[in-house]
Amino acid sequence: MEFLKYQKVFADNLHGTDFNAFPANLYEPVDYIMKLGGKRLRPTALLMSTDTFNGDLDYAKDAAMALEVFHNFTLVHDDIMDEAPLRRGKDTVHKRYDLNTGILSGDVMLIQSYGLLFKYSDHKYFAEIIKSFNDAAKLVCHGQQLDVDFEERLDVTETEYLKMIEWKTAVLFAAGLKIGALLADASPEQAKAMYTYGINVGLAFQVQDDILDSFGDPEKFGKKVGGDIVQGKKTLLVLKTLENLSKDLAADFLALINDRSLDESTKIELVKSKFIEYGALEYAEEVKNSYRAKATAALNDMLEGFPKINMFNDLSEYLLGREA
Ligand code: IPE
Ligand code: IPE
Ligand code: MG
Ligand code: MG
Ligand code: MG
Repeated sequence: MEFLKYQKVFADNLHGTDFNAFPANLYEPVDYIMKLGGKRLRPTALLMSTDTFNGDLDYAKDAAMALEVFHNFTLVHDDIMDEAPLRRGKDTVHKRYDLNTGILSGDVMLIQSYGLLFKYSDHKYFAEIIKSFNDAAKLVCHGQQLDVDFEERLDVTETEYLKMIEWKTAVLFAAGLKIGALLADASPEQAKAMYTYGINVGLAFQVQDDILDSFGDPEKFGKKVGGDIVQGKKTLLVLKTLENLSKDLAADFLALINDRSLDESTKIELVKSKFIEYGALEYAEEVKNSYRAKATAALNDMLEGFPKINMFNDLSEYLLGREA
């Protein structure tokens, strides 16, 4: 699989990097989370994009690292916000260390990610690269804020949900693909086409993440299965179930979703059975597949002149056929 080849290029670079520094209590958690594993999807996608447009993989490696460091920063803070105990099958940073460590080590990672991009200050697209990264970084915050706001809201629409996941997840994928293309001096149109692919594959990816959060295998998922249900997250599964329930039953279901006092496993089992009974699981799979099809179409639009584009079908498969 082509994806694994590029993933290895990135992983080798990562394992050769020591994130430890002074003060140790600030940087040790950075090394911990960066070496914890994970799929390294975003940096791998960036490297694949740069190679597609005949760029230099070695040259792009700091940009790939910037993306992964930024992503891991968002995870550290996301796990605080979501009160998550598990990440990649291990303790989250705030559980292993403490809350303040999660905050400050996360902050320094955000700063490091920008620092890694300075290397490209002489590139003709430097301004465009920084802007792409910055726009995505800001939108991740927008998405994360909506995700939290929606926990308390009872009237979230599917359109609002899709915007929220586009911002919290898809834009970072897309920005990485665009930056990979720009580093290889691809045209702005080509970079934009990669961005479009990234948005669609990223949307499919987050819908799948929401499905796995409820229906994944706890042995493989690496996060606490049912966490979204416990937190009252307004995923597509919840929204579709509400839509398919009669008015009275919808009110009961909403009360169940927002009940923070119920025994966790009772709540999880009850909610999951409704997701299935009211067709929400099936619907979410359909939505995931429709974004996957859009992603594939975006690739086909770019094939001419760039045969390596085909390897993104590998990436889609790796991303969207996953259990973890
Ligand atoms: C987790 O991202 C956060 C989401 C956007 C779903 P990944 O599933 O890429 O996490 P790792 O890096 O592989 O652990
Ligand atoms: C995470 O969304 C998005 C970001 C980290 C920006 P989730 O909260 O669904 O991610 P997981 O499931 O904890 O990985
Ligand atoms: Mg989370
Ligand atoms: Mg979250
Ligand atoms: Mg999730």
